[in-house]
Amino acid sequence: MQPSERVREDVREFAPYVPGLSMDEIRERYGLNRIIKLASNENPLGASPLVKRVLARKADTVFRYPRSGNPALVAGFAAAHGLPAACVVAGNGSDEIIDLLVRVTAQPGRDNVVAFSPCFSIYVQQTRLCGVELRQQPLGPDFRFDFSALTRLVDEHTALVFVTNPDNPSGYAVPADELIRLARELPEKALLVVDEAYADFAEPEAAYSMLARFGQCDNVVVLRTFSKLYGLAGLRLGFGAMPEWLADTMLRVKLPFSVNLLAEAAGLAALEDKPFLEASRDTVGRGTPAPDPRAGRLRLPGVPLPGQFPHGDPAQAGPRRLRGLARPGHHRALAQKLRPAGQTADQHRQRRGKYRVARSHAGYSPSWPLSRRRAICW
Ligand SMILES: Cc1ncc(COP(=O)(O)O)c(C=O)c1O
Repeated sequence: MQPSERVREDVREFAPYVPGLSMDEIRERYGLNRIIKLASNENPLGASPLVKRVLARKADTVFRYPRSGNPALVAGFAAAHGLPAACVVAGNGSDEIIDLLVRVTAQPGRDNVVAFSPCFSIYVQQTRLCGVELRQQPLGPDFRFDFSALTRLVDEHTALVFVTNPDNPSGYAVPADELIRLARELPEKALLVVDEAYADFAEPEAAYSMLARFGQCDNVVVLRTFSKLYGLAGLRLGFGAMPEWLADTMLRVKLPFSVNLLAEAAGLAALEDKPFLEASRDTVGRGTPAPDPRAGRLRLPGVPLPGQFPHGDPAQAGPRRLRGLARPGHHRALAQKLRPAGQTADQHRQRRGKYRVARSHAGYSPSWPLSRRRAICW
């Protein structure tokens, strides 16, 4: 028997997840010494100084297990958002919560999961891995959400409807009131999962976030990550706010120590480090200017809403150099479309190039450093 025959037939078809390259991989692959990472929307300021101090102090304790369910961390997150702690689950990144939601709610061979296309790849991957049908509604040409079309895919066997708000990769966002209307239209079984990985950067956050409206609907799950604003991508920490019955179920099946001791300590410190959060939000905000009229010359579509990645179709983009920057596969979901995002204002200045493009998601870069393209990765 071939070793591969021991693997489930559908699983054999899976392609590995292709993350943005790390700095080390870029350095090795392209022989660069100066790299500005534009991919993955990691925090442009790095890690919080308070987090670093706490991690150094905690180093001595790593021989211990964390407390199962991370109650102190869950209580800290719940208090920060005015949520009942019994409704919050901490995960090894919000990826873990997404994975658990599919496994806990959708019966393979009977139920389905609904999402837009393109969407965050983990919704697709975990749904497929569970052997659950995934139904996808293409985004509108300007990346808008067509909720009427989305709800036409929903039936009495829909377990989850995923909406990323603001969206990844487009940055398109809808006010939370629209999501409440969507939640109320869903059939009894379906849960609306609002993935707010980028809501910390929506302006004003309160208008876009469902967390402030938690409790208005009993069929909504809200996801948050600590990989962006909180600068903890490498430690893996995310949260789900959900109805208490679901949180209770998730905790019964979740691996008990998936949020490790250092992630727990770092998460609590990150919640406390308000100056760092403000500085991160501010840095990102300053990098998110009004759309630059010159973007039109590059023929990059602009969606004038919060949290926007500059994006465009290089096949149609004007300048040859812009086309040269687009290498296939750099954003799988948007196929040939570009999605650069930059870093701090200092880096913007360093990299001020010939062209500026529309707003960047989370404001990471309004400038496109074409003159120094060797330093670019995404
Ligand atoms: C839309 C969306 N959801 C979830 C995540 C995953 O976040 P985490 O790092 O907490 O697993 C990301 C990460 O980029 C994302 O873009």
